[in-house]
Amino acid sequence: MKEYIEEILKQSIKVIDDTHEVDVSMLKNIRVDRTKDLAHGDFASNAAMVLAKTLHKNPRQLAQSIIDNLPKDERIAKVEIAGPGFINFFINKDYVASLLAEMSADDHLGVSKVSRPQNIVVDYSAPNVAKEMAVHHIRSTVIGDAVVRVLEFLGNNVIRANHIGDWGTQFGMLIAYLERKESEQNSSMDLSDFEAFYREAKACYDADEKFAEKARHYVVLLQGGDEYCQKMWRKLVKMTMDQNQLLYRRLDVTLTDKDTMGESLYNDMLPQIVSDLEQKGLAVEDQGAIVVFLDEYKNKEGQPLGNIIRKKDGGYLYTTTDLACVKYRIDHFKADRILYFTDSRQAQHLESTWAIAKLAGYIPDTVSVEHCPFGMMLGKDGKPFKTRSGGTVKLRDVLDEAESRVNNMLEERHNPLQGEERQEVIHNVAIGAVKYADLSKNRTTDYVFDWDQMLSFEGNTAPYLQYAYSRIRAIFRKTEEKPGRIIIATLAEDELATKLQSFSDAVYAVADKAMPNILCTYLYELAESFMRFYERCPILKSEVLTDQRRSRLALCELTAKVLKQGLNLLGINVMEQM
Ligand code: ARG
Repeated sequence: MKEYIEEILKQSIKVIDDTHEVDVSMLKNIRVDRTKDLAHGDFASNAAMVLAKTLHKNPRQLAQSIIDNLPKDERIAKVEIAGPGFINFFINKDYVASLLAEMSADDHLGVSKVSRPQNIVVDYSAPNVAKEMAVHHIRSTVIGDAVVRVLEFLGNNVIRANHIGDWGTQFGMLIAYLERKESEQNSSMDLSDFEAFYREAKACYDADEKFAEKARHYVVLLQGGDEYCQKMWRKLVKMTMDQNQLLYRRLDVTLTDKDTMGESLYNDMLPQIVSDLEQKGLAVEDQGAIVVFLDEYKNKEGQPLGNIIRKKDGGYLYTTTDLACVKYRIDHFKADRILYFTDSRQAQHLESTWAIAKLAGYIPDTVSVEHCPFGMMLGKDGKPFKTRSGGTVKLRDVLDEAESRVNNMLEERHNPLQGEERQEVIHNVAIGAVKYADLSKNRTTDYVFDWDQMLSFEGNTAPYLQYAYSRIRAIFRKTEEKPGRIIIATLAEDELATKLQSFSDAVYAVADKAMPNILCTYLYELAESFMRFYERCPILKSEVLTDQRRSRLALCELTAKVLKQGLNLLGINVMEQM
């Protein structure tokens, strides 16, 4: 409807503007927005205020002329002038009801697919081998996966790229330590505590010169393709990713093994990248290293900052890998858009890497490469989220604690569910709460990890939304009546109907900005509109007329569908009962 109103406004303006004084740039400033208050109609436009000067009229007068030249349309019940010259459009409620009926019958709930599907590479999660998934990996994993789901829902071809840290000089040390561990235990070991493994390996490296020597030797062998070292390295990668895969499944994250495209994938391309940049005159030798100087990045003295792409000893860097990586994604996957979910501290690294890639012609203008940064996760004390002893908080421990807290909550509430059903509720609420806490905040800011807030059944939380859903489903267990034709008669119904219609806008905004919190806010507002409707509009009471009951059931049903679909796009499950 918004597009239609924009269109008829422009046509009307064209008629009034017979001497062609209005140009395209002025038309661009015209807005049609949903009103905040339904007393002002469904949509409002600032058109008359934007063009009054140009068309030599006062805004209210101009608004009247614009209205006089609008075509008659049954779908628009009334058009009014408000305040300094706003034009308010009241949509025919029967028409709104018919839109909602269409939406409910559509398994995509009125969210159309994009007209031109894109190949979109989403770089997310990206933990490091032989290390515990750190907090920034959790954020990347959860936020990235929600955006992936939304982009796919809209019909795009999404390539999940798990850019794991599976290469680097530390692998000599890790291989040497794995070897020692295996010979001690006389069997292959279970690497369930990466933190300890890494710490012990490092301790050996620092204390034992013979071990360190071996470690350095193994790095060289590994880089040279030595079979034994490669085998040990692959073992480390597999042990790490097997464990991460369990976490992904537990988190209902859609990443699988085939999405793993770690740093090592690009090894063979690195020499070629360096020589190409040298040939193009972008890279130069500087004290034995190969460096790219970019004009945009200068140090305090005003000298251009160098980006090393090959060290003096011949080693390559994170930048070199990311250069090959972005080129590969464009050449191999024919990417139209690439999203990188990494924490905000990597902004400068990515920006300078892409600046080089653009100069080298690896990123054509038609491809959009976007850093989707996020802030830190903080403890309640406002300091970075750490264990009491100052260590990295293990994701596994967070999820265990969430589940045990939810279990206690169910006990306190004397929840009667048992067995598998109870386990499912515990899982869905606990995982949902942890994920939603992260998803619902604007990702660019730091966020405070707060158990009480995220597990609350009040406010903008997963449990609140899941509960709203279950509550609606419970209504349907109490009646034989089926949903019928929607009749929008009261303000509460009107507000709910209006909110339901904005689902598509919210989903598209998430895809556009890569910000799942937009969908969270939408779902929360929808649940609130529903609760107000539910308080004010009786459904099952005997005095309610059948037509009205059926209409209200239809609104309940559509609300439940949108909540379920919306939460599903965020990677959160709902339950019929909880
Ligand atoms: N593994 C990196 C880290 O732990 C994140 C990788 C992000 N992706 C990329 N293409 N650089 O910080």
